[in-house]
Amino acid sequence: MSEKLTLSVIKADVGGFVGHSGVHVKLLERAEEMLSRSDRRHLLVDHCVAHVGDDVNLIMTHDRGVDDREIHHLAWETFEACTEVAKELKLYGAGQDLLSDAFSGNVRGMGPGVAEMEFVERKSEPVVVFMADKTEPGAWNYPIYKIFADPFNTAGLVIDPKMHRGFRFEVHDLIDAKKVSFVAPEELYDLLVFIGAPGRYCVKSVYSRELGEIAATSSTQRLNLMAGRYVGKDDPVLVVRCQSGMPAVGEVLEPFSRPHLVSGWMRGSHVGPLMPVGVADSAPTRFDGPPRVVALGFQISGGRLVGPQDFFADVAFDEARRTANQLADYLRGLGPFEPHRLHLEEMEYTTLPDVMQRLAKRFKPVEEEEDWSEESKIDA
Ligand code: F6R
Ligand code: MG
Ligand code: MG
Repeated sequence: MSEKLTLSVIKADVGGFVGHSGVHVKLLERAEEMLSRSDRRHLLVDHCVAHVGDDVNLIMTHDRGVDDREIHHLAWETFEACTEVAKELKLYGAGQDLLSDAFSGNVRGMGPGVAEMEFVERKSEPVVVFMADKTEPGAWNYPIYKIFADPFNTAGLVIDPKMHRGFRFEVHDLIDAKKVSFVAPEELYDLLVFIGAPGRYCVKSVYSRELGEIAATSSTQRLNLMAGRYVGKDDPVLVVRCQSGMPAVGEVLEPFSRPHLVSGWMRGSHVGPLMPVGVADSAPTRFDGPPRVVALGFQISGGRLVGPQDFFADVAFDEARRTANQLADYLRGLGPFEPHRLHLEEMEYTTLPDVMQRLAKRFKPVEEEEDWSEESKIDA
């Protein structure tokens, strides 16, 4: 094994149980089988098959670097094998993130989500893998900002000499496929101009300025413009290294105690609170939601994934769940009105073009004289 270790998290929705809510245990078993198969073992140092909502997440360690063909192929084959099981059980949207048979209403072809980082394993290497369902990569912007740039969240920014110089943020423009980086604290306000718009600008990675090392990375990927709207809101993952010059585990979890609003609820077209939950509570139910986030902690030891620790199962997040439920109640009351429903350009589903086409002739210039009072009268 070379000196550097790679941590790869690759996820896909290859079939929901039931509807778009959860993952069937047989899919998880198949994924486990695939990753453990002896002929594959030499590729990986260790792996953990995890899930959130209807997504299967493959957490893998190896020494092959990021974007490695073999590792990606292994993940792809694993998802294909899971798709076979999903098809057998007629799970919903079987293979939807690869090739689809069942209609899901989304334009497909975005493929699995990927978050990978390469680093030299420290004396002790605690990491947290966040996995979210029913939302988009920009959902991480707010917690990433809080973790790495907000001293009210992260005490270490003020009192840990190894964190005091701050962090560098790599930000991607998902629409123009461009990237830029900002350093905090000096460029906080410039950074916020962009990442406050999470539907377009996403934090891809964060680097420690003191250590000159990667601290976090997400599964941010480019959005596709199809049929006049952006698609590819992809239930995202985020990996964060913790402690000893990186934020403490508790500082990394802290932003989720105040559920923020994210896009992607029901039909990828609604805003809802991101509810932190333990794995056992991660299947979205109400209105296909509310959007969920799970946090799995691992100690990495010689590449082995020692864990996971299911952080959000803790009672300390009960109040956050209550807040999320209250926010969900309030937002649901708005029904089809914005801001519960997303702006037209951001919706994954929209009947607007069809309705518009059907009604096109009924639209008249506003200046045109028209008296609808007679027409409005209902004939007895
Ligand atoms: C949201 C999501 C679900 C589906 C909804 C309709 O990201 O996946 O809310 O959009 O259940 O699904 P279809 O169109 O497949 O019937
Ligand atoms: Mg699904
Ligand atoms: Mg999903």
